Amino acid sequence: MKALLLADADATDALGAALARTRPPRAVVHLHGDLGAGKSTLARALLRALGVRGAIRSPTYTLVERYPLDDGGEAWHLDLYRIADAGELEFLGLDGDEPTLWLVEWPERGAGALPKPDLVVDLSIEGAGRRAGLIPGTPAGQAWVTAVTAGHGVAGHS
Ligand SMILES: Nc1ncnc2c1ncn2[C@@H]1O[C@H](COP(=O)(O)OP(=O)(O)O)[C@@H](O)[C@H]1O
Ligand SMILES: [Mg+2]
Repeated sequence: MKALLLADADATDALGAALARTRPPRAVVHLHGDLGAGKSTLARALLRALGVRGAIRSPTYTLVERYPLDDGGEAWHLDLYRIADAGELEFLGLDGDEPTLWLVEWPERGAGALPKPDLVVDLSIEGAGRRAGLIPGTPAGQAWVTAVTAGHGVAGHS
């Protein structure tokens, strides 16, 4: 696992852009962290860097927002903070056409009903900034972490 220090919200945006630039063709990303840790900031930056224009709404109430991507794929941004149990995910119609990118806030609340993550980003508050742990869950995720930390120009530590 690599840990990055993100001094301000611009640094979170830069990480989102770097993740977008280096992403594998299909990816499941779990965004872990308390309220205010920067999960939505990172998700929004990633979506913007992938070419999403217009409003990027918080999925806090809708649970999922879907975005077509320029490459013909689709990104799904989920926020499971308000679900009572993972069974509610079944009613979202998430089966069927699978997205090429999942960005899931509060993934622990969907345990058992979500695909296995290629990458877990573990965000926490560190002073005035944030700390982002990058934890790969698959070989594709491992390659992603290597690429993003190299391209990001930030020295990670194991
Ligand atoms: N690296 C950072 N340093 C300082 N503040 C940040 C950083 N990244 C994001 N923020 C700020 O933290 C606040 C909460 O972010 P948000 O993404 O909504 O958190 P979450 O979705 O985890 O609840 C926002 O005001 C955002 O600008
Ligand atoms: Mg959020």
